[in-house]
Amino acid sequence: MADNEPAITAHELTKRFGDFTAVDAVSFAVPRGELFGVLGPNGAGKTTLTRMLTTLIAPTAGAATVAGVDVTHHPARVRERIGVIPQALTSDLDLTGWENVDIYGEFYGLGRRIRHQRARELLRMVGLSERANDLVATYSGGMRRRLEIARGLIHSPEVLFLDEPTIGLDPQSRRAVWDLLEALRGETGLTISLTTHYMDEAETLCDRVAIVDGGKIIALGSPAELKTMAKGADRVELEIPTDADRAITLIRALPYTLAVARDEAGAIVVTVDDGARVMPRLIGALDEAGLGVASIRLERMSLEDVFIQFTGRRLRDEAARKAGFFSMTMGLPRSPGR
Ligand SMILES: Nc1ncnc2c1ncn2[C@@H]1O[C@H](COP(=O)(O)OP(=O)(O)O)[C@@H](O)[C@H]1O
Ligand SMILES: [Mg+2]
Repeated sequence: MADNEPAITAHELTKRFGDFTAVDAVSFAVPRGELFGVLGPNGAGKTTLTRMLTTLIAPTAGAATVAGVDVTHHPARVRERIGVIPQALTSDLDLTGWENVDIYGEFYGLGRRIRHQRARELLRMVGLSERANDLVATYSGGMRRRLEIARGLIHSPEVLFLDEPTIGLDPQSRRAVWDLLEALRGETGLTISLTTHYMDEAETLCDRVAIVDGGKIIALGSPAELKTMAKGADRVELEIPTDADRAITLIRALPYTLAVARDEAGAIVVTVDDGARVMPRLIGALDEAGLGVASIRLERMSLEDVFIQFTGRRLRDEAARKAGFFSMTMGLPRSPGR
């Protein structure tokens, strides 16, 4: 594959199951070396898209190339150039970690010496050298996931596909997988495509993210670009027990204020571009005017907000809320006599 050729291209790629369209004419290109994320709720079509790109199912219409090879015309050649980590844990419990990786190398036709050398390097890279000779049955979910990533890399693929790599893992194991993928991205041109329904995963890890819903790409860009595409920005919520009207007039006149409103609870909601920078200046301005701020809270625009703007729905129900936005509440001393 030439250096400047994209690692993945999809052109109106479509998969129908009977009358149902699971992936609906999606087009995109992933440059070499990118960590690309496909973010969407359950049923969005993420796995179906991945299965087409990894030649496990044939597209109904459209075309795709992976590592420069057409998935429909040369599936076997695509398979040589990719590593695939499916959603379900697939390492063999009755074998050791080493054996799991080694057998894969054999399967890809690697000679014994190169296979053993790669297996050693990869197991070290995923932090499993010490446990290499233990049965996988004794591994945690996070260890199995890391082992499977090592196994998926045994034949030095150009593109690594992971379907929901951290689903069901505890926070610490998720972190370990993220760190591993970040380290891999730095490696010689490896392109990584992952699917996730975790907004924080897409936001933390991915260079670019395709937001998918109902089989369509509804937005594509870096996390920062996606946030700029969505209207509005950070929100600063203030409670000012007395003189709230005077405070609103003052806030409205500040140069960085985009909008001011009051919510049902009476809090003043200020829309700004860069909440973290504005917050101290806002407090300063109110303080100077003798207005007592009882509490202040920053809600940053997250990919979750972007998703809501594009689809009118939440990505996941309540759980996403908590993980989704960074917020902070602090009680400020009130000015005497207020
Ligand atoms: N083999 C299949 N036959 C029929 N419908 C399918 C099949 N595979 C997936 N689907 C449907 O396609 C949609 C997308 O599924 P999937 O790609 O698994 O979504 P995701 O991975 O984003 O959760 C779902 O509505 C699912 O029920
Ligand atoms: Mg899926």
